[in-house]
Amino acid sequence: MSITLNSPLDMHLHLRDEAMLNTVGPLTSDTFSGAIIMPNLVPPVTTKEALLAYKERILKACNNDAFTPYMTLFFQATYTKEFLESVKDELTAIKLYPAGITTNSEGGLSGFDVDELRPTLDAMSELNIPLCVHGETNGFVMDREAEFVSIYEMLATNFPKLKIIMEHITTKESVEALDRFENLYATITLHHLLITLDDVAGGMLQPHLFCKPIAKRPEDREALQKVALEGHPKVMFGSDSAPHPQHAKEACGCAAGVFTAPIALQVLTEFFVEHSSVEKLQAFVSDNAQSIYTNIEIPSKTIILEEKKFKVPNKYAEVVPMFAGETLKYSIAEIK
Ligand code: DOR
Ligand code: ZN
Repeated sequence: MSITLNSPLDMHLHLRDEAMLNTVGPLTSDTFSGAIIMPNLVPPVTTKEALLAYKERILKACNNDAFTPYMTLFFQATYTKEFLESVKDELTAIKLYPAGITTNSEGGLSGFDVDELRPTLDAMSELNIPLCVHGETNGFVMDREAEFVSIYEMLATNFPKLKIIMEHITTKESVEALDRFENLYATITLHHLLITLDDVAGGMLQPHLFCKPIAKRPEDREALQKVALEGHPKVMFGSDSAPHPQHAKEACGCAAGVFTAPIALQVLTEFFVEHSSVEKLQAFVSDNAQSIYTNIEIPSKTIILEEKKFKVPNKYAEVVPMFAGETLKYSIAEIK
């Protein structure tokens, strides 16, 4: 059986920089038409100059005409309307991190005071710049995302014209919020569709499955699976593929992030086929994102997957992918 995907999009991706960028960039740009690029470099991407320079480095590393990096800035409440107008044509979204919540997020927001946020978020609404949010409080780790839903509600009601993307959702509470507010959308990763906390820490600790937000309970995974498999129009694929070198993962103090870029389309295909929903995969990996992000242009690319075994490499340079050394059921047969 072969499956054709048109212009797959990864709406949440970490490409890093320098040697790591050179390793991981092509693994996405070969098979995806575009990706939303996260700005959590060190230092984070907060200026037009840094954003344009990073885009250049990505294009050079990827060396693929049929791939567009959709650039983002790291949210700061000090961004003025004038600044946003000057950078609007170069970016696709702005990513908001609570301070210290995950990798390289120390410069994020330390509070959600609506009056403090209003000038920047009003300007983003007016300029049609979506706000992508890492939605976790600093509460108990299993409750962080559910606790953040009240902040999503505050943002969604105070800024009704702002498109707010709940990034990498992991809970049934976030899924429920989607249908309560017109301007809330979500990305879902591959790994959160597949694993629960049990897979990370229920047996021997699995550092390569450790990420933020941490995988949750079976009922949360079920809620995510349902909206992905039905092609819910407010839900998009965003891998959150987050490479770290092996020594940073297999360490005392394991870095958060699951590296899925090179296996994402193969495993998504298997997952959708097994759940008798393969006809919804196109919506999940591209069409929904095209409807939600009205400010992107999408290079045309056709990916044909076949039911043919694919042995996942143990490593890509220094990075261990999800399913390392295992054999997948589908492989990429053709890229046109
Ligand atoms: O697991 C994660 N890794 N979650 C994030 O939010 C950031 C990412 C990273 O940059 O490594
Ligand atoms: Zn991320």
